[in-house]
Amino acid sequence: MKVLVTGAAGTLGREVVRHLRSRGWTVRADDRVPLDPGEADEVSSGDLLDPERVRGIVAGMSAVVHAAAIPAPMLGSEQEIFSNNVMSAYQVLDAAGRAGVPRIAYISSLSALGFAYSAHGISPESFPVTEEHPCLAEDVYGLSKSLGEGIARTVALRWGSTVVSLRFPFLGHGERLRHHLDYVQADPRNDSRGLWAWLDTRDAARAIEAALTRPLTGHHVVQVVADDSTSPVPTAELLRGYHPNSVLTEPIKGCDTTFSTVRSRELLDFTAIHGWRDLAGEE
Ligand SMILES: NC(=O)c1ccc[n+]([C@@H]2O[C@H](COP(=O)([O-])OP(=O)(O)OC[C@H]3O[C@@H](n4cnc5c(N)ncnc54)[C@H](O)[C@@H]3O)[C@@H](O)[C@H]2O)c1
Repeated sequence: MKVLVTGAAGTLGREVVRHLRSRGWTVRADDRVPLDPGEADEVSSGDLLDPERVRGIVAGMSAVVHAAAIPAPMLGSEQEIFSNNVMSAYQVLDAAGRAGVPRIAYISSLSALGFAYSAHGISPESFPVTEEHPCLAEDVYGLSKSLGEGIARTVALRWGSTVVSLRFPFLGHGERLRHHLDYVQADPRNDSRGLWAWLDTRDAARAIEAALTRPLTGHHVVQVVADDSTSPVPTAELLRGYHPNSVLTEPIKGCDTTFSTVRSRELLDFTAIHGWRDLAGEE
């Protein structure tokens, strides 16, 4: 089984390459940043906005993981983020579908919903937030991820590939995660727009493997989060304090996540196994 991983030099891409290789996949790792040939079975480098190059790298693949993107609105101009993220998603997903690649994982983000970078501080209509919640992005990054999901759906409809759009929260482990937790735990308001959701990067790689292997057809949007929040403050208390006008459609106990995990459990048979409370034990 051969898989192309785009964005393979990034935070998520590196972990996905490592994980899929450990699970027996033959991995072609691609990024515009040159990769060390020892990191994958094949490496390639260049821009995904070049359609001819993209046609070449998807050829012969049994699966594609499209993780390349500019991953936050402050990391480029609005023009750059929109054109890079939307066009690279189109080039990679459409080329893969056209080439008959049967399975594609599109790496989306919970930012597609619009809360994480909302200039107006909008709140979800209800908690737990499900995949049915409308996408309300005002920022160009969230918009690019939401449009990427539209491209994913079109590719599934047009070419018959199975495409899973995975909406991830903040991703990290080790130092990156610790830094994030310190920031959030200094003041829970610091994560009120991220809705205190998170996922260990290693669990994200496991979810991607599930998206490539579970018996599915068509296009699915799946949010994938850890079962708990980033904060030691009980979730119900956080919601009363920071999102008082949202409806609670079911009780959220203890420090449970603010997002529904029903679809990730049912479609991907996925549960996160790495908790932030384990961090101390890893050092
Ligand atoms: N990091 C997070 O917390 C997080 C959360 C949710 C979703 N995501 C999504 O996960 C994916 C990976 O994020 P990350 O944190 O690993 O980002 P990253 O910036 O660490 O890695 C992204 C990689 O994509 C490459 N890339 C971008 N545009 C490219 C192009 N046009 N051609 C070739 N390569 C290109 C970059 O060189 C980079 O190495 C992104 O799609 C992001 O939107 C990330």
